[in-house]
Amino acid sequence: MCGIVGYIGQKNVLPILIEGLRRETYRGYDSAGVVVFNEKADPVCVKAIGKLENLEGKLNNRQIEGVLGLGHCRWATTGGVTEANAHPHWDCQRNIFLVHNGIIENYKELKEKLGKEGHRFSSETDTEVLCHLIEKYFQGNLEEAVRRIIKEVRGTYGLAVISKNDPQKIVTARLSSPIILGINSNEFLVASDPAAILTRTRQVINLDDNEIAVLKPGNFFILKEKPLTQIEWTLEEAERGGYPHFMLKEIMEEPEAIENAIKGRLIPEEGTVKLGGLQSVSERLRKVNNAILVACGTAHYAAMVGEYMFEEYAGIPTKTDIGSEFRYRKPIVNEKTASIFISQSGETADTLAALREMKEKGVLTLGITNVVGSSQARETDAGVYTRSGPEIAVASTKAFLGQLATLAMLTVYLGRQRDMALVMGKRIVSELSNLPELTKEILKSAPEIAKIAKKYKDFENFWFIGRKYNYPIALEGALKLKEVSYLHAEGIGGGELKHGFLALVDEDFPTIAICPSDSVYDKMISNIEEVKARKGKVIAIATKGNEKIKELVDDVIYIPKTLEMLTPLLSVIPLHLFAYYMAVLHGHDIDKPRNLAKSVTVE
Ligand code: F6R
Repeated sequence: MCGIVGYIGQKNVLPILIEGLRRETYRGYDSAGVVVFNEKADPVCVKAIGKLENLEGKLNNRQIEGVLGLGHCRWATTGGVTEANAHPHWDCQRNIFLVHNGIIENYKELKEKLGKEGHRFSSETDTEVLCHLIEKYFQGNLEEAVRRIIKEVRGTYGLAVISKNDPQKIVTARLSSPIILGINSNEFLVASDPAAILTRTRQVINLDDNEIAVLKPGNFFILKEKPLTQIEWTLEEAERGGYPHFMLKEIMEEPEAIENAIKGRLIPEEGTVKLGGLQSVSERLRKVNNAILVACGTAHYAAMVGEYMFEEYAGIPTKTDIGSEFRYRKPIVNEKTASIFISQSGETADTLAALREMKEKGVLTLGITNVVGSSQARETDAGVYTRSGPEIAVASTKAFLGQLATLAMLTVYLGRQRDMALVMGKRIVSELSNLPELTKEILKSAPEIAKIAKKYKDFENFWFIGRKYNYPIALEGALKLKEVSYLHAEGIGGGELKHGFLALVDEDFPTIAICPSDSVYDKMISNIEEVKARKGKVIAIATKGNEKIKELVDDVIYIPKTLEMLTPLLSVIPLHLFAYYMAVLHGHDIDKPRNLAKSVTVE
């Protein structure tokens, strides 16, 4: 996720671009750049890594004038956080300047082909191939060249481009990455987010997939007639995409988090996955005979799910630990150990300390990280980015889904290097590709989950129980509820209830039981019965079609059917929503819960 803003009109463009980017920094904040066109001089393009202020610092005291320009703030996906990789990008002749959100999946093939044709690249990004493709096909009309190149690219894009050789216009196009046109009497804007243009106009057009728009002084056109829409959001709401809180916005982005994690990585016909970040260590991974997964908090619960996946499907003996414990233990490792560190931020001090410990011992270190260029990403031998986009709310939600999807892919990768049958690989890969749609289905039940939260609002204690793959999800559900609603919640393995915990069960201590129709379903039913026998109320997370469970429990939230190992990617979503709605009902500062920080960089 990154931010785009563009302007063509009569005003000096630079302050407009900077203002727009400021409103979009939540979409990307590891680098930013602008390009300004002026008929009387060469285009001026300035980029800087780090926060927007760094770019502003570079622009200070420079006389940059022009009424046409583009800006971009980046959340790195392909290529590290460097100035060369920041947008805008350009072609060989520096005639074409382009900003892009999304991922071009076939960029490597395109880059190789263009390289052979003599194009010279100055960045590691997928985006730059778009500039060179436009250069290749440009014959005097920019929109024609854009129309031509989008036939060749595979992936997603929201893009805006300007050219010195067809000046006085912005051409913009989209496929699965939002583009909004802002329409004013004598000026036009383009942005990836309404927040970027709200201070100038509230009249917008949402570009649809496969559409191209051309903005020129005094007029604009799209290939199809589109109605004007009036934006009702306040500026603040617009930054959150209209959602009242980032946490809700990010839960609603959970399908997208899975989609981004798996995009371009599944090879259905071979029942395997392509994880480019592991290529350099693939032979070493083949020899691995034990694995250690280390992380903190929510990421640690993802690791626990990974442990079940690795042992059941990749046949690799696996242990998990929290960073703060692992670093003080004397773990038994050898040259055939793979240590895998999972972190959204890539900056969690305890996880990093554990990683450094393993490096010192010469153990292979891998990272599953969201933030490109973070310490974890830089220090591990190899790794996989989860590509979940920026997570702003302190409580981690969509990043967890990205971690789980990545762990499932890693399981297939390791499994297929070993004894996993082709048919099993195919099954997992096929189910993984169905997950974005299945998760969207669960999100539709948000109003129903809000109602259930209301019903249980006045309870102060909650159990979360689950078994096997959903035991870590019980822990995650309890953590999320504690974190944002400040209620007491405990997550345990369902089988543990009778080993002491049942003493607390009564009518005031409800239980959330994660019981999809899987290999431990009957065991979970026994655990639910143990709770009901002590008058405990039960909310079940069950598989769609299981009507019978209604006879046993007080409330049911349904999730669709999938492979057992992938159920955590579905069952956790109602729990995230439940925690969110509880926090709303309790009137807390949801995105910044008391006493907590987003990135825990201290021990
Ligand atoms: C819980 C939460 C934390 C983080 C933990 C690790 O909602 O956000 O438990 O998961 O602090 O953070 P990362 O993943 O950045 O290493």
